[in-house]
Amino acid sequence: MTVRVARPADADAILALERASFTIPWSEESIRSDLEDNAAARYWVAEVDGRVVGYVGLWRVLDEGQIMDVAVLPSHRRHGVATRLLEALIEDCAAAGIDRLLLEVREKNVGALALYEGLGFEREGLRKGYYPDDGDSAVLMGRAVRRP
Ligand SMILES: CC(C)(COP(=O)(O)OP(=O)(O)OC[C@H]1O[C@@H](n2cnc3c(N)ncnc32)[C@H](O)[C@@H]1OP(=O)(O)O)[C@@H](O)C(=O)NCCC(=O)NCCS
Repeated sequence: MTVRVARPADADAILALERASFTIPWSEESIRSDLEDNAAARYWVAEVDGRVVGYVGLWRVLDEGQIMDVAVLPSHRRHGVATRLLEALIEDCAAAGIDRLLLEVREKNVGALALYEGLGFEREGLRKGYYPDDGDSAVLMGRAVRRP
């Protein structure tokens, strides 16, 4: 597996990952605009045999990074792909001078919560009933990029 920064040509693969993974996927327009025009956005992809099997997206706001989504093809889950993507993101954020990482995750998404907690993210808040499709709550998590 290799992990690299995403390019505009990865838009279709990222869109397919979004649609396979989320009930409310990001639109094609927002993904293309992030990859092509948005200097505050950076995405990474994981490839196996030349095929994109996972991605993570980040928006930078000053010294903070907001993790937008992480998604792995159902056929490639539980093989450490998301962990590798997030480790690459954290390493690049440290080099870019980003101090803190933030994210929101559905309270019912126990797999993602376990993934983030395993990487040192801590629960910092709860937005009750945040998601309009099923009324699930959003868990707010954060992590210092560099840890003592
Ligand atoms: C959540 C998701 C990104 C995890 O990707 P992944 O590549 O399978 O994750 P990893 O293999 O790196 O998992 C690392 C650890 O996280 C935890 N974990 C991951 N998925 C889990 C699950 N479904 N149930 C319980 N724990 C899980 C485990 O502790 C795992 O370690 P282990 O396999 O040694 O037990 C993937 O399931 C996915 O794409 N889901 C749909 C999209 C989504 O919910 N994204 C997160 C919200 S933004």
